[in-house]
Amino acid sequence: MKLTKEQINFVNNLLNKMTLEEKIGQLTQDSPSIVGGFDISFDELVEMLTDGRISQTEFNKKITNVKRDYHEDDIRNGFVGAVMGNDPKKANELQKIAVEETRLGIPLLIGFDVIHGLRTVYPIAIAEAGSFDDELMQKTASIAAKESRAYGINWNFAPMIDVARDSRWGRVSEGPGEDPYLSSRFATAKIKGLQGDQSSSNNYVAACTKHFVGYSACEGGRDYNTTTMSTNTLFNVYLPPFKAAMNAGACSAMAAFNDLNGIPCTVNSYTLRNILKDEFGLNGFVVSDANAIKECVNHGIAENDIVAGEMAINAGLDMDMGTRIYLNHLASSIKNGTVSMDVLDDAVKRVLSVKVWLGLFENPYIDEKIIEQYDCAIPKEHINICKESAEKSLVLLKNEENILPLDKNKKFTLVGSLADSPDEVTGSWALGFKSKDCVSIKKGLENSNANFDYYPICGPNTSINSSELDSAINSDSDIIVAVVGELKSMSGEASSKANLILPGQQREMLASLLRANKKVIAILMNGRPLALGWEKENLKAIIEGWHLGIQMGNAISSALFGDINPSGKLSCTFPSVNGQEPLYYNHTSTGRPASNSKFTSKYVDTPLEPCFPFGYGLSYTTFKYDSLTLKETPSSVNVTFNLSNTGKRPGTETVQLYIQDVTASIVRPIKELKGYKKVSLQPGESQTVTLTLDKSEMGFYNNMGQYVLENGLFKIYVGGNSKDTLVSKININF
Ligand code: NOJ
Repeated sequence: MKLTKEQINFVNNLLNKMTLEEKIGQLTQDSPSIVGGFDISFDELVEMLTDGRISQTEFNKKITNVKRDYHEDDIRNGFVGAVMGNDPKKANELQKIAVEETRLGIPLLIGFDVIHGLRTVYPIAIAEAGSFDDELMQKTASIAAKESRAYGINWNFAPMIDVARDSRWGRVSEGPGEDPYLSSRFATAKIKGLQGDQSSSNNYVAACTKHFVGYSACEGGRDYNTTTMSTNTLFNVYLPPFKAAMNAGACSAMAAFNDLNGIPCTVNSYTLRNILKDEFGLNGFVVSDANAIKECVNHGIAENDIVAGEMAINAGLDMDMGTRIYLNHLASSIKNGTVSMDVLDDAVKRVLSVKVWLGLFENPYIDEKIIEQYDCAIPKEHINICKESAEKSLVLLKNEENILPLDKNKKFTLVGSLADSPDEVTGSWALGFKSKDCVSIKKGLENSNANFDYYPICGPNTSINSSELDSAINSDSDIIVAVVGELKSMSGEASSKANLILPGQQREMLASLLRANKKVIAILMNGRPLALGWEKENLKAIIEGWHLGIQMGNAISSALFGDINPSGKLSCTFPSVNGQEPLYYNHTSTGRPASNSKFTSKYVDTPLEPCFPFGYGLSYTTFKYDSLTLKETPSSVNVTFNLSNTGKRPGTETVQLYIQDVTASIVRPIKELKGYKKVSLQPGESQTVTLTLDKSEMGFYNNMGQYVLENGLFKIYVGGNSKDTLVSKININF
């Protein structure tokens, strides 16, 4: 976020005119409360939807029928700087109050969780990162920005860039997976997409990177739990995506709920001031997570709300989401000197700067005509990009005897109630879609005139219907396409799980079909890596479909029939069984690497290898890597190899570059992703591929949080996943 001189002057002049109360108002984010019927806040309602206590239909019903109190008088009095919501008409009404009825006419920030699309819901982040396609990731974010702005939202609580190494944590679905490098490229693409097109104020929003920091490292994968890590792990693993986002100009960040090494992130001046603001250069602001300032009392770090508020603002937490603690107590803290005016002014300036940068002072309102258009139909261009993203994000995990792609004219049997659950394709945190836009897998297959019978049999939370199972067993087709996995409410916030196998009776259904000698192809719909050891061993083919968004059905159908050739790769490691988590490819070297000999680092009752490694994904063609050479230049290592398409179809391979710092002053990972590229080849075609490894990327953060480049031997790997690689060595003197 860069402001011109005039804009900076405007902010300073405005600040000079503000009363203490008006300043504190700018640091208060308010949410509408629901009135009548039941006494819950909008935040709570959103959370109920997210954690599955109510369905999308129930949510929509409550939202449309129920009266909400937007606390208009508080806005009128200048007590509110930001609100939460996605109702376009209301957005204009509230902006009108802020702009025309307050003393200084300061427009509102209107924030909302647009995590993977608003009307056009595209793949959940864990899936989309697997496309390894930065340009596409930017495009989907830019669609989200335009749709948000059309609905009056000017501030998106995205991207979520928590590196997630433990699939028990439900929120793995919301972020780009386990790798810091991939997550950093994802973060950059998303910031560019959300904030980049400033040609019109209708085209961009302020991004809010979250959750700062270490939220995903919660102990045991249990949401909101405590987080403990070394400085080098913090800097090498969890901070890089945030650094990348700040380099790309991200406007804001959300502090995480958890404590990090004993200090809640809401009141952590080391992470908020020293790292995020001073070192990474955030010139926008930090918002708390919902209710988090108050939760510092539960953490046992503040004796009451007043102290929690003082600790938060002094630590660099600029805006209070949802508690009104700043609004109610900050003025007296300023008066008694516990919080200085400088601290307050700095926070206010940051919030005002984002409002100025967004062009809200010139253009606070949205054009309600645009909304009418969206209400009729999503623009075709958005649908096309959404479908492309879904097609490029799905991952072919197994394809025994090349059973896929299927012949469209040959009849098969479709099973699994998830196949006919349109809303489920949207995944966690999808709050703005319309069911009529969602293409279920069954619908997608019908759209392509496939020849199949359908029996739902069972789903993640419904038991086997034996007459439907019998019908599937007795059907004349020997091929079964089984759509199995998780409901969208089974991942996302407050959805941590200890058991990662297919929920309910779905595995039992698959086993019954196998016993009847059916060839079973599984299409997975899930928001986290599942423990797939049994499925890998027994099924003919597996497509990881994640929650691919509203075009999921069409994308899966294109892949099943070979209209596209799968090219997605896994953004995270898959375990074989429960209990292997946390599981990730880039773990540090141990003195006793896992092997078949007894006294090595492993479990004695699981395979040594993961079920599917990071970066893994098959194609309907095959690729061969050979002739790896390394050439050193003053600033880089040019990594060159030969890639051939050795199969019978055109295909796209995501070539991946990993390094290992063989000997260093602290123990380093066994492999680290440092580059990737997509290469498309015709059958029989070969290409010499060069990836440039910048030497500045070959260092690491030590336990003082300092970035160091250490001379010595490096191993350089290239391959189509993190496990199957060519390797060469090079000595580097930086
Ligand atoms: C809680 C979640 O942790 C956060 O990601 C979200 O943006 C806020 N609530 C607002 O809905």
